[in-house]
Amino acid sequence: MEQDSKFGFFASLIARLSTTHVLLAIVLGPFTIAIFRYTRPSDLPVVNAYPYDFFHQKAHTAYFSNAKGLIEEGRKKHTDCVSFINMIQNPDYTASHVRGLGTKLSRPGPSACGSSCYPGFEANRTITDPRKIVINVVRKKFNQNRHWHTVNLSEDLIRFVGRMSEAVFVGPDLSTNPEWQDLVISHTLRLFAAVKALRGWPAFIRPVVHWFLPEFRACRQQVRQAKSMLRPILDSRAQMKSTEEPPKFDDTIEWIEEEAAERPIDPAEVQLGFAIAALHTTTELLKQALLDICAHPELVQQIRQEVLEAVRESGWTTAGLFKMQLLDSAIKETQRMHPGSIVGLEREVVRDVTLPNGVKLPRGTKIGVDSSVMWDSNVYPDPREYDPQRYLRLRQSGNSAAVLSSSSPDHHVFGLGKSVCPGRFFASNEVKIAIARIILNYDLRAKVKSESRRVVEVGFMMFSMPGVPLEIEIKRRQEEL
Ligand code: HEM
Repeated sequence: MEQDSKFGFFASLIARLSTTHVLLAIVLGPFTIAIFRYTRPSDLPVVNAYPYDFFHQKAHTAYFSNAKGLIEEGRKKHTDCVSFINMIQNPDYTASHVRGLGTKLSRPGPSACGSSCYPGFEANRTITDPRKIVINVVRKKFNQNRHWHTVNLSEDLIRFVGRMSEAVFVGPDLSTNPEWQDLVISHTLRLFAAVKALRGWPAFIRPVVHWFLPEFRACRQQVRQAKSMLRPILDSRAQMKSTEEPPKFDDTIEWIEEEAAERPIDPAEVQLGFAIAALHTTTELLKQALLDICAHPELVQQIRQEVLEAVRESGWTTAGLFKMQLLDSAIKETQRMHPGSIVGLEREVVRDVTLPNGVKLPRGTKIGVDSSVMWDSNVYPDPREYDPQRYLRLRQSGNSAAVLSSSSPDHHVFGLGKSVCPGRFFASNEVKIAIARIILNYDLRAKVKSESRRVVEVGFMMFSMPGVPLEIEIKRRQEEL
């Protein structure tokens, strides 16, 4: 805190002194161009390069406001690949091809702008950590498993998912604490705001400038807050474990400790890491899926019937959830239409490769795959139509990838290959249980037309419009179970 306040003066200086900014630009501009030329890894045509845009301000603005348009424009001008300044290269390449390339994971977000090592971004680092402690835990532990009134999905669902997820992540003490809830929910948003702010600066001064940006100060402050909130829980657990009959804890704090096996890892940073990976991704899927289901009253009734039968036969078990196949299909259909990102599978090529179309990708090139396969009429008939039975039919015809938690080149929202999301089983079950319970307890109807929704694209990301209420109407009903 104290250290940060020292930087307050410099932060406001940077924000306000445009003359200094301009002078910096004049002095450092040529270096930037040289560095950019030197580091640009391939000769792919760049879609957001503009004359005299030395600091890439225009390139960044174009990327954040119109990434999809840029991809489309690039496609029209160049038949094969396009690339983005300071962003991943974006070959027009399919998910299955990427599997055959020598690649390693290249994280979107913080690592993509070289900032994942900065203080404040520790949570993100716990996921990219090559020791894979967090990833292994998720892989091992998360796999099994009377009057109409308006509710605002934008506000309510993140808290709902927060409560459900945090009970497993951080355990009972903090999961119901509103301060902890606010912290974990807002950390991802702070992180992305920081990344966006940093991208406005030339790469070579980012290692210095991040110290002065208010967005980074907020991230650092949150990491300190998480540490101080978790400390008493860790101390009291340590004390309880030293007793003769130590209680058994069953949450990620415990599982991470076991997996780390004496290797140093900060539990608070891990908790923020879980929040980044899990909360907004799952909430977005739940929110969009509910909006689609609500817009189809007959579907609500069909899903309710399916859930009733599944729970009567098998209870709220894995077997019961397996039987909710129409629900599974409807959610996967929403995910196809709103994948959360217009480019996925972000990777870095680890050796020089030449694509079948002759394009050379030197080692170090960052690539990604356009999500448009999910809207391609050659793959999915009537791709713009919401068809909740689509994946159910595919599943019944023997396509094992048509299950919500599965991933395939035609639907790679959870990624693919070695880095495929290890939390996809947990997320799928969580969303299914949440919708099943809501549909059993409430009558639902849409308040807004589903076409008038609600998704904005910022860079490659697609998410619900922040601050815009997404309302549905619900009415408590007599439960059958
Ligand atoms: C609907 C919800 C979710 C979506 C759409 C989603 C999506 C993704 C995607 C696209 C990746 C990168 C995969 C790749 O590049 O091949 C990923 C990685 C990851 N996800 Fe998820 N995720 C979700 C929920 C969760 C949850 C609930 C958890 C934790 C319980 C989780 C933990 C992780 C972790 C640890 C990684 C890193 C895997 C690695 O690098 O090997 N995710 N997720």
